[in-house]
Amino acid sequence: MIGKPVPQPSQTAAFVPGKIIPIDLMANAGHRSYDIVVGDSILSEAGTLISLRLGVRRCLIITDNNVGPLYRQRLEAVLAAAGHTLIPALEVSAGEGSKDFTTLQVVLDHMLKNGIDRQSLVIALGGGVVGDLAGFAASLVMRGIDVVQIPTSLLAQVDSSVGGKTGINTVHGKNVVGTFYQPRLVLADVTVLDSLPKREMLAGYAEVVKYGLIKDADFFHWCQSDGDKLLRGDRQAQIYAVGYCCSQKAKIVAADEREKGERALLNLGHTFGHALEAIIGYNQLILHGEAVAIGAVMAFKLSAQLGFCSHAEAYEVRDHFATMGLPVAPPSTFDYDVDKLMDLMAQDKKAQNKKLTLILARRIGDAFVSHDVKTDAVRDLWLELLR
Ligand code: GLY
Repeated sequence: MIGKPVPQPSQTAAFVPGKIIPIDLMANAGHRSYDIVVGDSILSEAGTLISLRLGVRRCLIITDNNVGPLYRQRLEAVLAAAGHTLIPALEVSAGEGSKDFTTLQVVLDHMLKNGIDRQSLVIALGGGVVGDLAGFAASLVMRGIDVVQIPTSLLAQVDSSVGGKTGINTVHGKNVVGTFYQPRLVLADVTVLDSLPKREMLAGYAEVVKYGLIKDADFFHWCQSDGDKLLRGDRQAQIYAVGYCCSQKAKIVAADEREKGERALLNLGHTFGHALEAIIGYNQLILHGEAVAIGAVMAFKLSAQLGFCSHAEAYEVRDHFATMGLPVAPPSTFDYDVDKLMDLMAQDKKAQNKKLTLILARRIGDAFVSHDVKTDAVRDLWLELLR
């Protein structure tokens, strides 16, 4: 343990840093359980970890042109050492723009051109974009082949690599074409976070804080006291936080894989955030995690305005994100159309019968799903923020 002992959030008694977190899904078709392995030397063990659980395979690494040059050769070497054979890896362009039909087709063509078969294994080596794209392609080719997620961003380690959501974006919204397709294994090596640009690390941190905001005020307080250690590269804090978030997500997904109930809480801030990303055009002006931070601040502000939570707690949430260096309001350099933002929110997958479904909060650590938020209140909030 480095530094003072990390305070233990209330729901984490079962989690020991570095432990293997099993995720057991209730339904009985397909791949129903897998492990999430979190630690600081996982990448060098990847070949063995895969062969122990999934046997010796023909592996196709899908990565991007930021992550590939850093880790692809290392991964190929440990896969070969463990007896796996390699299909030539594919590097897509880094960035949200690769979650589109064109790149999906490139991935599928590459798979088919290289003779992928039902026994082959896709390895998604990268952040959320690579994980969503490679997972989606794996779910489609040959009607579905195995995929292992090796998340290399904080955001992917704590959220997107776990739980089986895959997909791409279209002009109609983010992730509106995709599948629920569980990976066979998730390998989260926190040492790779060292190579992450500070902005990406912070964006992922928004998703870490989210777990405290939705269900565990103690974990939010841990973020307030120790979150900066995680961002500064303290291994113990990183393993602790990634493990905590994965264990929370594993419980939520096991109980509600298809997002019929509790899983929706994980979307705190996302409906606002997705609308922002879509209107801006999925580019570097705003990263997904930044949009989630802004969206979470908006969700707490709206909750306070609607009388569900105190304004003091809404400010506490905003202040924590701002203190850590995350944006808490939409970028001022874009010319927003509030009608378009409202349309995008209504098109969100979570919208039902044109009523807005939003995650609101009674207090920090106590979020709930609301299916009947009045559109006027949301519109006024956008107008207030974009003034
Ligand atoms: N990222 C939210 C979920 O996986 O449900």
